[in-house]
Amino acid sequence: PLVYEWSGISDLETQLQKLLGIKKVIIVDGNLDLEPSVKTLMGVEAVTQLEQYAKPQDIVAVTGGSTVAAVSNAVQKSNRLKDLTFIAARGGMGVEVQMQANTIASNFATNSGNDYRTLYLPEHLSEAAYNAMKEEPMVQEMLGLYEKTSIVIHGIGSADEMSGRRKSSEAERQALQKSGAVGEAFGYYFDEKGKAVQRIRTVGLQLEQVKNCPTILAIAGGTKKAKAILSYFKNAAKQTIFITDMAAAQQMFKII
Ligand code: F6P
Repeated sequence: PLVYEWSGISDLETQLQKLLGIKKVIIVDGNLDLEPSVKTLMGVEAVTQLEQYAKPQDIVAVTGGSTVAAVSNAVQKSNRLKDLTFIAARGGMGVEVQMQANTIASNFATNSGNDYRTLYLPEHLSEAAYNAMKEEPMVQEMLGLYEKTSIVIHGIGSADEMSGRRKSSEAERQALQKSGAVGEAFGYYFDEKGKAVQRIRTVGLQLEQVKNCPTILAIAGGTKKAKAILSYFKNAAKQTIFITDMAAAQQMFKII
């Protein structure tokens, strides 16, 4: 039965990898909506992938959220994780500290014995503030690092959940709904067809920069995120490695 179960998971991984049109899918058994330990196991799988692809001098950009936080908690010192710099994929501080990209980048670095750079800016910037910020030397340094980023580790969320977490106004939520936003990743909202329909204006990695990275690890699970995950992968970078759980994987096949 054990052998059967494992071949079952690997079949599902191959089917999902084909459905999403990406490089690789790794499925952890269980449902993270119900069992928090599933997130920890997904974190461990993500670290194994990171160890496989990271090279000395790589810049690794990480997003916020509880799932990427679980990856940072699973990281340990290793010969495979040498001379890396971890940076926050976005400077925003809209959510609680433990979930912020800056905190998670420093956690990755501390746990693996590497460097990190942080950038603390408000989550939403007006156009004028954004243009002024861009000229600051600290921000310029970060923008330079985004250009050189070769690994991205990011979460995926549902548009509803994320606009709630960001305490978006009623008007903003309505605008999001009207634009058909379903999924969210690194500050961009995506509709059912995978089109980026809105983005949060703050200093951060641009969608094009993500797409140009040779290694992208996306981590998200739980039944509730299935629709959001499908929307994001409609148009995501083909080189993405996706780590998820059984509940999300099965729900995706139910939806399509
Ligand atoms: O806010 C950062 C972020 O990575 C979002 O882009 C994503 O939608 C969300 O966190 C995922 O959060 P969680 O892993 O806690 O569900």
